[in-house]
Amino acid sequence: MDGSKLYKIAVIPGDGTGPEVIKQGKKVLEAAGHKYNIGFEFTDYDFGGERYLRTKETLPDSAIEELKKFKAIYLGAIGHPDVPPGVLEVGILLKLRFSLDQYINLRPVKLYPDIDCPLKSKGPEDIDFIVVRENTGGIYTGKGGIEKKGTPDEVATQMMIYERYKVDRCLKYAFNLARARKEEGKPGKLTLVHKTNVLTYVGDLWYRAFTEMAGKFSDVKTDYNHVDAACMWMVKNPEWYDVIVTSNLFGDIITDLGAMIQGGMGIAAGGNINPGGTSMFEPIGGSAPKYTGKNVINPLAAIEAGRMMLKHLGKMEAAKSIEEAVAYTCTKIESLSAGKMGYSTSEIGDMVSGYISGI
Ligand code: IPM
Ligand code: MN
Repeated sequence: MDGSKLYKIAVIPGDGTGPEVIKQGKKVLEAAGHKYNIGFEFTDYDFGGERYLRTKETLPDSAIEELKKFKAIYLGAIGHPDVPPGVLEVGILLKLRFSLDQYINLRPVKLYPDIDCPLKSKGPEDIDFIVVRENTGGIYTGKGGIEKKGTPDEVATQMMIYERYKVDRCLKYAFNLARARKEEGKPGKLTLVHKTNVLTYVGDLWYRAFTEMAGKFSDVKTDYNHVDAACMWMVKNPEWYDVIVTSNLFGDIITDLGAMIQGGMGIAAGGNINPGGTSMFEPIGGSAPKYTGKNVINPLAAIEAGRMMLKHLGKMEAAKSIEEAVAYTCTKIESLSAGKMGYSTSEIGDMVSGYISGI
């Protein structure tokens, strides 16, 4: 394999079941790489809860500079039961997203055939959309504070801040994605999800920016939903959606709902994208501490994250082969839920990689 075809990937297996699922994801990437002549050079980093408990360090600034040299980052899970909430999430996950300027969080919601869907009378033809979640702004910037802490007069604030450029770059990505999907034969429709009836400043900014940009993408159909209504429609009429674009917090919330209608966290993946820099791909289910080390967690979400990574790297055929292998595997397993799949974590990894290799 010559050096030009070698992709340098940083791997952060992280906490809980992260390492188990990443191991299977790497196995699948290697199988696809072998078949399509793509080489990977994986470099492991041990950021996560265990390291924090040992060293009190989350993610040093020097690591950010080092990570910028990689083509992509493959992340397992961040979150540890012995570490107070927020420390690792803010100190590792959000720090990575923010300092690598991964301003898009891309989360497909796709129901594979044969997967049990909790929505009555909905099938794969009804559930195939993608959420473009803004990933570097809004309430996640954490500006605010607590005054008079611990007194009856205590006041806490946490501000939802959006610069116009952050909104515009996110909308541009979403409009282009809707256009690209149209070329693939999908509806090519973009729905803005926000809460303009209450968030009269931030919502107004998003709505105006959306309407202005729609003028430049006349081939893309547009729509608007308040976020509460979107939760209702995602359950009642998921077939109405093709591409959803939304702010950071709303995107966080609706993609958990999205994960459930596509069959659960066992298969939900996401990409934290910086179109001009280092992007990061992760299963979105978290570290699942109670299943750690039992070889029962579903690795399909991590495998899907690997597929998104290949697609992002422009390796379309290899990505497609993973998609087909995942679709096949979905017809074989009993359920997507941990411990109920009828197969172990590693057996599912074998099934997907074996299908790709043609075994
Ligand atoms: C996610 C997670 C994170 C988020 C947490 C762990 C900070 O819920 O990736 O959706 O809120 O973005
Ligand atoms: Mn979330």
